[in-house]
Amino acid sequence: MEEKIIILDFGSQTTQLIGRRLRELNVYCEIVPYNKFPHGDESVRGVILSGSPFSVYDGEAFKVDLSGIRGRLPLLGICYGAQFMAYTYGGNVEPAGSREYGRAHLSTFDADNLLFHGVRPNSQVWMSHGDTITAIPQGFKAIASTDKVKIAAYQVEDEQTWGVQFHPEVFHSEDGTQMLRNFVVEACGCHQTWSPASFVDTTVAELKEQIGNDRVILGLSGGVDSSVAAVLLNRAIGANLTCIFVDHGLLRKDEFRNVMHDYECLGLNVIGVDASEKFFRDLEGVTDPEQKRKIIGRDFVEVFNAEAHKITDARWLAQGTIYPDRIESLNITGKVIKSHHNVGGLPKEMNLRLCEPLKWLFKDEVRRVGRELGIPEHLIGRHPFPGPGLAVRILGDITREKVRILQDADDIFIRGLWDWKVKDAEGNETCLYHQVWQAGVILLPVQSVGVMGDERTYERAVALRAVTSTDAMTADWARLPYDFLAKVSNDIINKVKGVNRVTYDISSKPPSTIEWE
Ligand code: XMP
Repeated sequence: MEEKIIILDFGSQTTQLIGRRLRELNVYCEIVPYNKFPHGDESVRGVILSGSPFSVYDGEAFKVDLSGIRGRLPLLGICYGAQFMAYTYGGNVEPAGSREYGRAHLSTFDADNLLFHGVRPNSQVWMSHGDTITAIPQGFKAIASTDKVKIAAYQVEDEQTWGVQFHPEVFHSEDGTQMLRNFVVEACGCHQTWSPASFVDTTVAELKEQIGNDRVILGLSGGVDSSVAAVLLNRAIGANLTCIFVDHGLLRKDEFRNVMHDYECLGLNVIGVDASEKFFRDLEGVTDPEQKRKIIGRDFVEVFNAEAHKITDARWLAQGTIYPDRIESLNITGKVIKSHHNVGGLPKEMNLRLCEPLKWLFKDEVRRVGRELGIPEHLIGRHPFPGPGLAVRILGDITREKVRILQDADDIFIRGLWDWKVKDAEGNETCLYHQVWQAGVILLPVQSVGVMGDERTYERAVALRAVTSTDAMTADWARLPYDFLAKVSNDIINKVKGVNRVTYDISSKPPSTIEWE
């Protein structure tokens, strides 16, 4: 990578948003823990210090020595990052009288300051802090204020060092992206050349260099991430990549067959393993959700490893891990935001090295890269699907018959979403499927009375689940049109034997989760 910005993560929930904004500006960046600055990396053009859940006064607050950075590279502190610098270099930071939270406006700012080029008068910014800077160190100058916050932003005189107490990265800071652009382009001199095409070129070159003539194994799941990782590796090392796709019998209707076909069309060398017998046997009678997950995780590793061992000269295990998958392990505050869901694991005794070419990307970036690689839209646009598959959507024990019922109901729902045409915000034609983050049907452990013709029925109930989200960490139930829900409900009850009632899940996350188990 020729040029990059380093974001030092002090634990704020919006750190990843900073990364995302920079990527939208076509600037490559890496987010690293606050104390892991890559000293000596010549490609670093500038540094951003993120916000933090801590106050600079907290005993546990993250502190870092900036002497190797400040004055050498352009530096921008955001919220805690700004307070940390003000405090460290001799200014005053005090608890704000009332927590400064929410919308505010830059009532005065130095329009000539590089950071504010192109920023509109009275621009709205988003504040979120319990402390406030009451005095800046000598040699610092205040460059913006709001009605409540006198030192909303500062710059160190004659130095490319800035601090802002608001969050330019959040949507509600109207000119926030402009300020970040000013920093990365004008101050740091980045060329805005990061694009899916440049990512593909650089990554393919890096993979060739890293892997050479070694053989690589990759576990495919049918999802976007592992598919994109596979096609990228295939481009770099061709036949030296062997993919393994395990069918645990809990995939969607016909998914194994369809996805295998897609992979073959993409020219991938894929071994498909039908291990459903084993999974159904081991899951028999198990009702506890965690127990189900454990069994599936364990069986998956066993089946995957057995296949991997047949490739005796493999040196690498590739995975489609993306940035949000790693947030938990990267999260330096130690708070678990989302438990890591990836099934599978590294066959230890094989001594494989790990290759994760997508580990810095967000989902929508992975999709852009996938399109660049020519992967068909129906694979790229696919909703996420949980590793344990329909097992976490069948409440209670799992049988082949229940899986059949759920697959049929799910198929009607998902096809319906694809077929239902709507206009997007720009007036372009799209379908409901693309307007929801994820959708599926849940088979409930409930039977209820119904009437079909003149006959009393006593059959199963299912719940439809469809959510909107940007990262699966929070989600809202999708406001699907009533007419659509009516049609799907009718179709399911008429066509899926064993179901006589359909409900719609209207819970958001939190406090619910997307999956029911
Ligand atoms: P929850 O239910 O935690 O789900 O709100 C968040 C996202 O993660 C997916 N999910 C999984 N993905 N293995 C996976 O690969 C899993 O065990 C797993 N459990 C949940 C879920 O479908 C949603 O997209």
